[in-house]
Amino acid sequence: MNRQLIETIKQKALSDKVPIMEDAGLNYVIAYLKDNNLSSLLEIGTAVGYSSICFASSNPKLKIVTLEKDEQRHNIAKENIRLAKLENRVAAVLADAREYDLNDMFDVIFLDGPKAHNQQLFERYLKNLKAEGTVIVDNVYFHGFVDNPELLEKKRLKPLVRKLAKFRDDMLNHPDFESRYLEIGDGLLVCRRRKKDE
Ligand SMILES: C[S@@+](CC[C@H](N)C(=O)[O-])C[C@H]1O[C@@H](n2cnc3c(N)ncnc32)[C@H](O)[C@@H]1O
Repeated sequence: MNRQLIETIKQKALSDKVPIMEDAGLNYVIAYLKDNNLSSLLEIGTAVGYSSICFASSNPKLKIVTLEKDEQRHNIAKENIRLAKLENRVAAVLADAREYDLNDMFDVIFLDGPKAHNQQLFERYLKNLKAEGTVIVDNVYFHGFVDNPELLEKKRLKPLVRKLAKFRDDMLNHPDFESRYLEIGDGLLVCRRRKKDE
């Protein structure tokens, strides 16, 4: 386990104001991967590699591809992954996830990148999700504003909050997915693709 390194990465990210997953959401995903014996994950939004290092460190058979478009963060992530000795299981890719294309198939697609583009990213990477795979989306609660948009003072954030709410509701009603909205961390959406005969 990379416990000490993980704590250092977390504290540095917090002091540099790099957004990273909250503990509760992170622990939920770690347990979900373990409980369901999952071994491959595509992450949109590497930041400095904190979540991918946590996922891979707590599950020795997990392989991750993680996409980040900010070059500086990507470089820090590469170095953190190297320090964690996870280069053989965590592949950090410098790319705009809205344009990137890959052929690999994954047990889990974890959307933690540009929040306004969750729908577009979901559609783009659906072809990379295994038959009974799971899509997990972080920050669907968006600090409480998704459920209480009237509290939002910054007008410019209103379209984002509307989009997040619409994406969440669309996924909760999606006929091909069994979706759950969990009020943990900043809100997690966990959507498992139904078996063909379900
Ligand atoms: C919330 S952070 C990711 C946090 C990370 N998963 C963690 O918990 O350690 C979101 C990241 O997505 C990146 N991002 C935003 N738009 C993107 C895009 N179009 N393609 C790839 N990455 C993007 C941002 O630069 C940011 O670093």
